[in-house]
Amino acid sequence: MSDIHGLKRAAERGVTLRQIGNRIVLENDHVRVWEVKLEPGQTIDFHIHYHPYAVISLGGGENEVETIFGDKRDTYEPTGHTVFIDGMRPVHKLTNKSKVTYLARLVELKHITWTPEEAPLPSAEAPKTEAAKAEPAGGGAAAMPADAMSAFKEILIQTADLEWAAKSLAGLSQKMLWRNEETGASIGLVKFEQGSGVPEAHAHASNQFMFCLSGKYRYIPTGTTLTPGCFYWNPKGSVHGPTIAEETSILLEIYDGPHYPVRPTWYTDDADAH
Ligand SMILES: [Fe+2]
Ligand SMILES: [Fe+2]
Repeated sequence: MSDIHGLKRAAERGVTLRQIGNRIVLENDHVRVWEVKLEPGQTIDFHIHYHPYAVISLGGGENEVETIFGDKRDTYEPTGHTVFIDGMRPVHKLTNKSKVTYLARLVELKHITWTPEEAPLPSAEAPKTEAAKAEPAGGGAAAMPADAMSAFKEILIQTADLEWAAKSLAGLSQKMLWRNEETGASIGLVKFEQGSGVPEAHAHASNQFMFCLSGKYRYIPTGTTLTPGCFYWNPKGSVHGPTIAEETSILLEIYDGPHYPVRPTWYTDDADAH
């Protein structure tokens, strides 16, 4: 029997599956709403989800998901971040890796109940099975077990479906699209409202790349101005700014590592400097 959802592995390890949240906030025929609350370092122990569910972050959100197979994945769910899981993930646990409380509502849709082994894997995530992890480097796709292959999914984000998350610099908000918690690299959309900007000269701890989608965004000392279609590259350590959005500007922003050496003075929240 295949074990893509890890129930067999959990039994072999003598793991007793736990409930998926701390407490049920509301339940009716349609939904079961859980509160998930984790203090820094706390864990929701191994569990599995039998229904599709949405998770809405109410705070914190830098967590680690570890599957029963030992695969680990960092999550970044700032306040307001909403995710919908439409397939059965392997048995997993969730640990708050940040220094602040993680609080979320998890809404299960009771009309659909998954059966392990037959249930689809989530389309929005890419959990790795142990079989996939154990595949030797250079092993071709054809050599991978079918179970492992089925665990890899492409990820598509419709950015219009994401909410802009305000940062602690007035007029700046973002939609984070991808992050590598190990390296600090990221890809996101940032929006500067007209008249806002980065108030001080500064340098980044990695290379920064931007593609201007709309607006007019100017670097005041040099006059360098991004307009739609402009690609901007700012090498690691290069001092630049302050800046001003002469028009409300939306930029695709890519960093190949950490954004800043230390938290800049214009942010009051460490998470904004990531
Ligand atoms: Fe979970
Ligand atoms: Fe900058």
